[in-house]
Amino acid sequence: MTQLSDFHRSRVQAVLQACPLVPVIAIQNAEDAVPLCQALVDGGIRVLEITLRTEHGVRAIEQVRKAIPDAWVGAGTVTSIAQYRQVESAGAQFVITPGVTEAILDFGVTSEAPLLPGIATVSELMMGYAFGYREFKFFPAEVSGGVPALKAFNGPFPDVTFCPTGGINPANAGQYLGLSNVRAVGGSWLTPADAVAARDWSRITEIARSSLAAL
Ligand code: 3PG
Repeated sequence: MTQLSDFHRSRVQAVLQACPLVPVIAIQNAEDAVPLCQALVDGGIRVLEITLRTEHGVRAIEQVRKAIPDAWVGAGTVTSIAQYRQVESAGAQFVITPGVTEAILDFGVTSEAPLLPGIATVSELMMGYAFGYREFKFFPAEVSGGVPALKAFNGPFPDVTFCPTGGINPANAGQYLGLSNVRAVGGSWLTPADAVAARDWSRITEIARSSLAAL
């Protein structure tokens, strides 16, 4: 089994260290991608997870990469190697998966864009651990045990760190970030659907700013 190199790992660590809050973004209208992401960056966000939950994801990654060169732009909700290749071609600087398959873990070991694999259980963590991964997304965090689960993971796996997502909000983000094995948290609360539908970019900037200030 090929192991994740230190270089590959350091690139995932760089993403997680760049910003404690990672917006999980689903683009409903193609023309919103750049102004929405710019609004987040204006509020202090440095890492953008643009998901493939809508048909606009891949194109949005390409556009945002060009328009906002000072942010880390990555792809989320990648569930196949075909999608992994697509988002790499679009310029994704990192790739996040909601879960793991052996094939994706293996592909991520040598991929151009580093992988943050999603896990919800110790067994999934161990699958990734065997390939050399030490950074994981913990998803869906709140329904998979939340803060107590992450504390428990730290016993057998003190060298593993997490970016929890799923059910994170301004009220509980600080509790997660207070854990020694959490580097960043992600979520969709930074891009409320009503603000995006109204193209209220200044509200998005304000949510980003106040969420970062509250940490
Ligand atoms: C994700 O993919 O990370 C989550 O769906 C985000 O979860 P949330 O909508 O509860 O923040």
